[in-house]
Amino acid sequence: MREAGYNVFNLRSEDVYIDLLTDSGTSAMSDRQWAALMTGDEAYAGSRSFFELESAVRDVMGYRFVVPTHQGRAAENILMTALVKEGDMVLGNAHFDTTEGHIMLRKATPVNLLTEEGYDPAAEAPFKGDIDLVKLEAALKEYGGRVPFVLLTVTCNNNGGQPVSMANIRATSELCRRYGVPLYFDAARFAENAYFIREREPGYGGRSVADISREMFSYGEGCTMSAKKDGLVNIGGFLAMNDEGFYQTAVQWEIVYEGFRTYGGMAGRDLAALAVGLREVEDLDYLENRVGQAAYLAQGLWAAGVPTVRPAGGHGVYVDAKAFLPHIPQPQFPGQRLVVELYLEGAVRAVELGTAAFAHRDPETGEMVYPRMELVRLAIPRRVYTDRHMDFVVHTFERIAARKASLTGLKMVYEAPVLRHFTARYEDLS
Ligand code: F0G
Repeated sequence: MREAGYNVFNLRSEDVYIDLLTDSGTSAMSDRQWAALMTGDEAYAGSRSFFELESAVRDVMGYRFVVPTHQGRAAENILMTALVKEGDMVLGNAHFDTTEGHIMLRKATPVNLLTEEGYDPAAEAPFKGDIDLVKLEAALKEYGGRVPFVLLTVTCNNNGGQPVSMANIRATSELCRRYGVPLYFDAARFAENAYFIREREPGYGGRSVADISREMFSYGEGCTMSAKKDGLVNIGGFLAMNDEGFYQTAVQWEIVYEGFRTYGGMAGRDLAALAVGLREVEDLDYLENRVGQAAYLAQGLWAAGVPTVRPAGGHGVYVDAKAFLPHIPQPQFPGQRLVVELYLEGAVRAVELGTAAFAHRDPETGEMVYPRMELVRLAIPRRVYTDRHMDFVVHTFERIAARKASLTGLKMVYEAPVLRHFTARYEDLS
C-alpha cells in the first residue's frame, strides 16, 4: 500500500485476491459468447456481426438504429457532440462521472434530480433511482429551450445501483413529451433495472425481463450503452435511437471518432459476442443469481454490523463509510481508509466513491465542498465469484470492525486536476 501511494488503482491485479473494484468489463463470457467470437466477421463495411448486433438491439431495446462504439463513454461523446451546446442544462436522475465530464466539456451543466430518499443511505425504499418529478417539471419550466434532453440512468450507479420504477419512467416520458424534450436512457445496467421492476413493482411479477425491458425503452427515443456491464462483454458500447435524422448525424461523428458505421470502435468478433450477451443478460435464472449475490453479500454485512446503502443494489453493495468510521473527518478520507484496510486485511479491492472521487472546490468561494455520501463500492463482476468469496469479504469486514476505532485518516499528497481519485497518492496519518 505504501508503494501504491495508498491507492488501489495502482495495484497489480496479481496482488489482489477478490477484485470488487468494478463490474465493468470484468465479467466472464459464456460458452455461447466465446463461440460467437469465433464466427466474427471482420469485414470493414457491412460485417455480418454488425447485423447480428443490430438485430439484437432491435429485439432487446426496440430501437431501429445502432452506432457501435469502443465503450460507453464514446457513445456519450457522440450523443453530447450531436445534441449539447454551450449553456445547455442536461437533466437526469444522476449522471455517471464520464457523462458529467462530456456535458461539462461542452460548457453545459449536468443537473441531478434524484428524489430525496435517493440520497439517504438508510432509507429502505424500492426505487431509489427515481427522478424527482416535481423538480424535473420545475427545471423543464425554468430552463425552457436550454434542455436538449433528459437522461435516465438505469440502474442508478452513483447512489448504490438503485433501480428506476416503470411508473417513474412513464411519468418522466409524459413530462418530456409535454415540454417537447426527448428522453434518453443510460442503459449500462438495464437488465438489472428490469429485474428489480419485475420483483418490486405491482403488475410486473408475471412478465418476462425481455418484455419489461422493451416497455422501459419504449418510453424513450434512444440510449447510450456501456456493453461492459449488461452487454456481458469485456469491451464495447453503442448508441441506439429511433430517429433517422439523429442517426445520420451520429454516424458522422462516429466515423471521425470511432470507425465506420458498421463497426464503430469494435472488432467484428466483439460485435458478435455482444449480440449474444445482450440476449443472455435477460435470462431470469442468471439475474436471480446475479442480483441475489449482491443481496447475499449485503445480508452478511448487516449481520456483521456494517452499515450500507439500503437496499442492496443490482451490481453490488455500497458501504456507508461515514457511518462505519464516524471518528475520521471527511477531509481525511474515511472512505479511502476503508478501501486501504480491505486490501491490507483481505487483499479485497474496492473503490471509494466519496471525498476522493467527488469533493471539489467551489469556483466562487474557493471552499472545499464535500459529497453528502461517503461510500465504498463493492462491485461484483458478473459470473465470476461464488457466494463463498462473498463470505470471505464479510469476514474481512468483521476483522476490520474489531479494530476500527484505532484507524486514522489519510492525507492526499498528489492530485490531478480532473478525476483525481484514479491517480491520487496519499500518506498515512497514523
Ligand atoms: N454509465 C454508467 C452508468 C456507468 O456506470 C459507466 C461506467 C459509464 C456510463 C461509462 O461506460 O466505462 O464503458 O465508458 N462505469 C464503470 C464503473 C467505469 O466502474 O462503474 P464505459
